[in-house]
Amino acid sequence: MTPTAILDRTPVTLPSDQDATGRSLGQEELQLLAEVLASGRLTSTRGRFVNLLEQRFAALLEIPHAIACSSGTAAIHAAIAAINPEPGDEIVTSPITDMGAITPILYQGAIPVFADVNPDSCNLTAETIERVLSPRTQGIIVTHLFGNPSEMDDICALAKQKRLPLIEDCSQAYLAAVNDKPVGSLGTIGCFSLQQGKHITCGEGGLVVTHDPHLARRVRLFVNKAWGYGDPQPDHYFLALNYRMSELQGAVALAQLTKLENGIASRIRMAERLTTRLAGLPGIKTPHISFKHRHVYWRYTLRIDPDVIPGGAVALGKILSSFGIANAPRYIQKPAFHCEVIRNQATFGKSRWPFTMARPEAVRYDPENYAGVFKALSEILVLPWNERYREQDVDYLAEKIQEAVLTLQAGGV
Ligand SMILES: Cc1ncc(COP(=O)(O)O)c(C=O)c1O
Repeated sequence: MTPTAILDRTPVTLPSDQDATGRSLGQEELQLLAEVLASGRLTSTRGRFVNLLEQRFAALLEIPHAIACSSGTAAIHAAIAAINPEPGDEIVTSPITDMGAITPILYQGAIPVFADVNPDSCNLTAETIERVLSPRTQGIIVTHLFGNPSEMDDICALAKQKRLPLIEDCSQAYLAAVNDKPVGSLGTIGCFSLQQGKHITCGEGGLVVTHDPHLARRVRLFVNKAWGYGDPQPDHYFLALNYRMSELQGAVALAQLTKLENGIASRIRMAERLTTRLAGLPGIKTPHISFKHRHVYWRYTLRIDPDVIPGGAVALGKILSSFGIANAPRYIQKPAFHCEVIRNQATFGKSRWPFTMARPEAVRYDPENYAGVFKALSEILVLPWNERYREQDVDYLAEKIQEAVLTLQAGGV
């Protein structure tokens, strides 16, 4: 097809997860919300919907314990608090993730130590994690970025060998799987976000899952000011916050849960269609997926070779934007360790605590240790993805990407 032929198509407005066009909020949510309001019990300490959500989510993941909370950030915070590192202990994590997965480490007095990523997937690997382990490492957080699982066989083996708790950040990876087992159930603790843009949402919310009853109790206590609800002589046992989910959020999330699998199936079907449509387009790599993995396409990522497509991801993104197609070259503008909070150690007052306890080499962030991170960020172009995309939407996307590539190869806009 010539670029002119493509240009003749009427522009398509794609569904967005930021509003009703791309969300599946409807009668089911309204009905449960009405029940909550009619009951007059809006707190989960008295109501039943958050409790039901926890039971159903645990059943879905075939894991014994699920605890709801107020956000994905709260979920990560509760997971770290459950592990209970000593001040100055190190938690290995990714520099390509949401800041909500990193700041909780500092709030618990631990030091985030950043490992490099595999530029093909933007995920940590056992090899990059192992490189940054130290005698002070007390935990690992892996993020299954964009819905594509990390290489968990190797990472779980490493965590087991080193006896380190492994937190899986599944905020972007509901029902993603490795060897048919859902992420979140593979490590020590799994964390999920229910924020507006995730596979399912209740506006803000989070879920924590674990096989371990001791950790489950600590997580539940942590999101409840460490008050021992139900204990014979309850007390506030340790330093903790109110990170509870309300019944209103619980009702919406419970209804959303019933729609999760269909939404994911649709995301995968449409993503595979785009991959087929883009096959063979020079200079573009479609998502790299291991045969062991189920990628659930929170986002659809392209990697752009600037030697083949002049201007690379940024130039391609600019043309797509001019067509009205949302996209994010680089995904995040910079690795987490270049963000002010980490770079300036901007924590509590002027103290810089807990960075004051860090090993100097753990907080130096030498660029040569992050070749994968810089390569990944310079090549990636992230496209929003949605279960409401139809075949014609995906075909439109494919045509517009082809047109943008041809334009750049012909010498620019
Ligand atoms: C990978 C990842 N981790 C953690 C979070 C934090 O979740 P929340 O925004 O619900 O606090 C998000 C997203 O928002 C995320 O994408």
